[in-house]
Parts: sequence; structure tokens; C-alpha cells
Amino acid sequence: MRRKPPRSAMSHVLQNLLLKRRYNDQAFVTLATNDNYAKGAMVLGKSLQNHKTSRKLAVLIGPHVSEPFRAVLHKIFDEVRLVDVLDSGDTANLTLMKRPDLGVTLTKLHCWTLTHYSKCVFMDADTMVLSNVDELFDREELSAAPDPGWPDCFNSGVFVFRPSNETYNKLLRYCSEHGSFDGGDQGILNGFFNNWATADISKHLPFLYNLSSIAIYSYLPAFKQYGGNAKVVHFLGKTKPWSYMYDTRVKQVKGNIQEAATHPGFLLRWWDLFSRVVVPMLSEQHGDRHFFSGCVVDDLEVGMSQLHVSHPELPPLSSEERKQRWEQGQADYLGMDSFENIQKKLDSFLK
Ligand code: UDP
Ligand code: GLC
Ligand code: MN
Repeated sequence: MRRKPPRSAMSHVLQNLLLKRRYNDQAFVTLATNDNYAKGAMVLGKSLQNHKTSRKLAVLIGPHVSEPFRAVLHKIFDEVRLVDVLDSGDTANLTLMKRPDLGVTLTKLHCWTLTHYSKCVFMDADTMVLSNVDELFDREELSAAPDPGWPDCFNSGVFVFRPSNETYNKLLRYCSEHGSFDGGDQGILNGFFNNWATADISKHLPFLYNLSSIAIYSYLPAFKQYGGNAKVVHFLGKTKPWSYMYDTRVKQVKGNIQEAATHPGFLLRWWDLFSRVVVPMLSEQHGDRHFFSGCVVDDLEVGMSQLHVSHPELPPLSSEERKQRWEQGQADYLGMDSFENIQKKLDSFLK
């Protein structure tokens, strides 16, 4: 005979069920117009689940997301909604940001049409939660964290909003009348919610809810002081976690080490989740264990060959000389400033 679960466990289960019911009308929402961003969405969804969110998970996808990827998204998310891709086609402003690919981020605006939810938190597919962030639902539209490049603008990688067809139509009208000053959704949203910087401090999320890797090196002492409390990491910028290779045997990230050096600890956490949880789901869908061998390096020989670069012995630099070189963009990426050394340093700050 099966034993009854103890009373306290029962009430815990009941409590969780009640919470789920209560929050059926609130969701975390993300967006993926292609398979690469879908990988990010999967890691984000899993990170939210691992931290026991009590809210629904929804993902907007574009028609280019392939069938096996859609199938895995369906396993992770409560709702997978196919939407039309909106593209600003504004090459001039996007070139200014060196991101010609970001015109399609206007597709994000579709999130306002999810009117079966009363309140949502949008999160970019290149974000990952490091703890439970359900308290974000206590905030009102439009709450967001400052953008690290221009802190009087909010960054549109994480924001709280209320779905509404009226707001959606107003946003579209705003797009056609004013355009986006950056060519992407962030320009539109900052133009539309244009009193964010000054009107209501409760709508300013702490930076810890959208810690972009870019900020880490621009103010290292602050990162050292506060980085350990980060709740959401945002891999903002051209190189995304899925742009790297990962060696599953030694659990190390390979690729353009120079850019990875800005957020090695977080990057490893992303890859750990991706390789342990998401890759098996994708491989199962594809019915091929080696489906992902091009992405995850599990052959040590291949992984290490990239690092076998010989360089002549030079006298060691003083720490001031190293700092100067670093600031001039001449870091010694294969030596003192190697990915591994920086990673150790950041890890020791975070501990
Ligand atoms: N996105 C997408 N497909 C693209 C580009 C962007 O689905 O080709 C979505 C995705 O959710 C992504 C968000 O739009 O996280 C914003 O783009 P990105 O994160 O690349 O911009 P960044 O934060 O680096 O400025
Ligand atoms: C930003 C945001 C991103 C947005 C992009 C385009 O850097 O991080 O979420 O899509 O700008 O506006
Ligand atoms: Mn982003």
C-alpha cells in the first residue's frame, strides 16, 4: 500500500496549486524569431522553472523557427504563439548601433496582444534568471531597469507591462508616425513611455534585474560590491552565449575569448543549463544523439586545439602596464588576461 504523504507536504502541494491558479493570468514572455534565439528562450524558460516561478511561461515565435525547436519550446513553455515578424528596416539607425540584425526586435511589440494575461514581464531571449524574480509582478507598466549605455533610457531586455490591444495599436501608430530612434523596439518604447526617467521611481527596476555583461567592465568595483546579488543576467551585445563553443568534458567555453572575458562566470552558467538540459531535449526531438555536435564540443582534442597557440617568452608586465594595455584594447588574452584568469578573478568577487 502507498503511504500517504505527510500533512505538511500535502499542504505544500496544495499551496503551490493554489498559487498557480491565482497566477494563471500572469506570465513571463519572451521572443525568438529564429532557432538561435530559440536556444536562448529555452535556457531562459528553464532558468525560470528551476527557480520555481509561479507564473505562466509564454514565447512568441516567428515562422522561421524550425519544427524540432518548436517542439522543445512547447515542452518548456505553457504557450507558444506564432506571430508576424515586424521589421523596422531602419538600416541607418541600426548601423549606428552596429547591429543591422535588430530591426526584427519590433516583433516584441506583439507582446501587448497577449490580452488573456492581466500583467506580464517581458524578458529578452538572451537573458537568464539567477534567482526567483516573481516579485517583478508587484510593479506596474512600464517598469524597467536603466540602459547601461544611456541610463535616462530604460533597457527593453526586461520590462513589466499590461497587455492591451489599445496600447498595442497606439504603439504601432507611434512607430509609423515617429519611427524608432535606434531602429529597434527600445527606441520605440522609450519614445512612447517617455516620462520613465523622471515620473515615478517605483518604475525603475534595480539594475540587478537586468545586469548586462557590458556594465561589468565599465565599473568593476561596483560589480565586485553588488554583482553577487544579480537576479537576471543579460547577454546584451553582438556575441551571444550560443555564438561560443563549449567543451562538455572540461566544462569550458571556447571561441572568441576576448568578448567572453566580460562575463565568463555567467556564460558558464548559461552553457551548463543549455548542455545539461536543453541539448538532450533537442537531440531527442531530432532522433540523433550527434545532432548538436557542431555546437557542443565534447571531443577534448578538437576543443583544445584552438588553444595551442605558441607565443614567445616576454618579460612580465607591471600591473600598471597591463592596465594601460587593457584600456587600449591590447589585453594579453592568451596569457595574464586569459579567459581562465579573468574567470577566476570574477568568481572570487562573486563568492
Ligand atoms: N530577437 C529575435 N531574433 C533576432 C533578433 C532579436 O528573436 O534576430 C529577439 C530576442 O528575444 C532578443 C531580443 O529580440 O533577445 C533583442 O535582441 P538582442 O537581445 O539581440 O538585442 P541586445 O539585447 O543585444 O541589444
Ligand atoms: C537594446 C535591448 C534590446 C532591444 C534592442 C533594440 O540594446 O537590449 O532588448 O531589442 O536594444 O532596440
Ligand atoms: Mn538582449
